[in-house]
Amino acid sequence: MENFNFYNPVKILFGKGQIANIASEIPANAKILITYGGGSIKKNGVYEQVIAALAGKTFLEFGGIEANPHLETLLKAVELIRKEGIDFILAVGGGSVVDGTKFIAAAVPFEGDPWNILAQQVPVKAAIPFGAVLTLPATGSEMNTNAVVTKAATQEKLYFSSPLVFPKFSVLDPETTFSLPPRQVSNGIVDAYTHVMEQYLTYPVNAPLQDRMAESILLTLIEEGPKTLANLNDYQARANVMWCATMALNGLIGVGVPQDWATHMIGHELTALHGIDHAQTLAIVLPNMLTIQRDRKREKLLQYAERVWNLVDGDADLRIERAIAKTREFFEAVGVRTKLSDYGVGLDTIAPIIDRFEKRGFTALGEHRDVTPKVVEQVLTLCA
Ligand code: NZQ
Ligand code: ZN
Repeated sequence: MENFNFYNPVKILFGKGQIANIASEIPANAKILITYGGGSIKKNGVYEQVIAALAGKTFLEFGGIEANPHLETLLKAVELIRKEGIDFILAVGGGSVVDGTKFIAAAVPFEGDPWNILAQQVPVKAAIPFGAVLTLPATGSEMNTNAVVTKAATQEKLYFSSPLVFPKFSVLDPETTFSLPPRQVSNGIVDAYTHVMEQYLTYPVNAPLQDRMAESILLTLIEEGPKTLANLNDYQARANVMWCATMALNGLIGVGVPQDWATHMIGHELTALHGIDHAQTLAIVLPNMLTIQRDRKREKLLQYAERVWNLVDGDADLRIERAIAKTREFFEAVGVRTKLSDYGVGLDTIAPIIDRFEKRGFTALGEHRDVTPKVVEQVLTLCA
């Protein structure tokens, strides 16, 4: 196992009715800004629960944060916060609202152009405190330090990470997810699954606990994910998927082990350039990344084949092929298509992606730093 430091201070309020308990998590006398997305919270009762919980507190609202949140929109919230003297933010929504709120929180005290927090990875030195009410289990943003923001003007989708943007608390009430459209339920399952794969499917470093925790999240998603699609009001299945998604990317399974993330880096470009949903891009790229990197990932692929898909007999290469095929079949079975052509995108997307990676210096991705632009091209060619 590699050395690691682990720190995660996010308080989780999990379960039915927990929105009612947020007031005691927010400093008394705080002037609050509620941030939210395109309006789903106003249709499913979540907004009413939040307002009831904040009774007696001072708050303003900022809605309209889009999926794959735009810098341009978030900067308007930054302006509002500076003008109104807001000192606590409450993000209510999916990963985009939580990520957008992390950016807003860091941008308010930032001197200079806040886009440089992402474009030049300028370290965050301060951030406004915030909490979250999560309505879409997928990203893990509710319990981690990452945020992904899109600059619409240039179609760039970039990330930053800082311990200063850990939420102070996150409410995970599975009932808030009943109103999700099936496409977002499917996306959440695939995103969480791929987060585990990015941290697990690399090479062995004798970290059996992290491996087994990762495998248990994958197996639980395989078991519980389809139940949430078969019965949209299955509270127990929703609860299990929600906790899987949080555990998949709160840092715990990734301690002391190598991590990949090349699939995500390519996926972000497909979203930025073509507007394909985040999880859809992962479903397209991951099986082909595993195929191209199969020799480098051989030992872990065989472990994955055996422990997750029960593939124990026969030729090792065939087991690997079957495990990759099973991964693709699972994504398709939960409703996420796995080819570029399913989304109307052709192979002419490869050249601009490679060009962007070269310009940004993203020329050595993956756990071995051997995913060069040439490898990215091979992977994307298989995605046709
Ligand atoms: O905007 P509203 O009206 O709320 O509608 C949203 C949105 O249209 C809707 N939705 C959310 N909760 C709902 C609901 N509709 C009905 N009922 C509910 N309970 O779902 C749509 C998608 O929401 P979004 O927040 O965009 O989805 P998701 O949670 O998948 O977040 C995706 C974003 O997170 C980033 C992605 O790149 C993308 O920008 N990621 C963040 C990560 C992190 N912070 O660690 C890691 C991930 O890999 C990912 O990159
Ligand atoms: Zn993701």
